[in-house]
Amino acid sequence: MHARVAAATTAALLGGAVVILPSPHARAGSQSTRPVIVSHRGASGYAPENTLAAIDKAAAMGFSWVENDVQRTRDGELVVLHDSTLARTTNVEQLYPDRAPWKVKDFTAAEVARLDAGSWFGPRYAGTRVPTLKQYMNRVSYNHQKLVLEIKNPGLYPGIERQTLKLLSNEGWLDPAHLRSSLIVQSFSADSVRTVHDLRPGIKTAFLGRPSIAQLPEYARFTDQINPDHTGLSSGYVSAVHSFDGPHGTPMRVFAWTVNDADVARRVAGFGVDGIITNVPDVVRRALG
Ligand code: G3P
Ligand code: CA
Repeated sequence: MHARVAAATTAALLGGAVVILPSPHARAGSQSTRPVIVSHRGASGYAPENTLAAIDKAAAMGFSWVENDVQRTRDGELVVLHDSTLARTTNVEQLYPDRAPWKVKDFTAAEVARLDAGSWFGPRYAGTRVPTLKQYMNRVSYNHQKLVLEIKNPGLYPGIERQTLKLLSNEGWLDPAHLRSSLIVQSFSADSVRTVHDLRPGIKTAFLGRPSIAQLPEYARFTDQINPDHTGLSSGYVSAVHSFDGPHGTPMRVFAWTVNDADVARRVAGFGVDGIITNVPDVVRRALG
């Protein structure tokens, strides 16, 4: 165990203050550089979430990092959508009134492709579609953007990790350049994150949640990042995460979500987070100066 890790773990186990020794990797100014801004579900404060319009909006505003949510249709197509049902963000209830509760996994790709995923957000987005992951990756590439890809509800979709990585590979996203700087795969499921790491150890991964400091050594075996809800976050916790080296031998990083308020953005930036995931990236950019 690394000395920094040992110090943090011992302190955590004793319930005392965490002593953090400096990282030997000296991720140049990681505690003081501005956090990366990630447009959550695209620039979802300004365009319908998880659509091509939302990532185009982020691009138009000058933001390269976007986040999405990946699920699977009944006939095995990977699609980009947050909820486990289609009800909130599409007109599925009108088109298919007898298909409650309108779960993504109960609809075919052709049925999903008919849905309007934009009108709920505003009339100017009428006719916007739920993108397949393939369509989405093409657009992210076209926009020269970078992606935090979330595998959503993996328990509903056995094998979705392998299928997602195959698609990413086919789309040219698992080459060294993308692995180095353009892709992070995350999930609320530690098992899913571990599976991604085991299948393709070169991929940077993130666990969504906030494990205890005592648990961090175990997480550091398979995840490069701990991405917590911003509420209750502290500089001590961020420093503790930074004190552990992830599977690629560099300090684990922290992206906080979902920060839509300028004061909160400044506060979590002060904690030393490496990234801020937000629906309103322009607000965070302004807040951080
Ligand atoms: O990227 C963080 C965030 O997306 C996690 O929550 O529910 O918006 O997917 P959720
Ligand atoms: Ca998400």
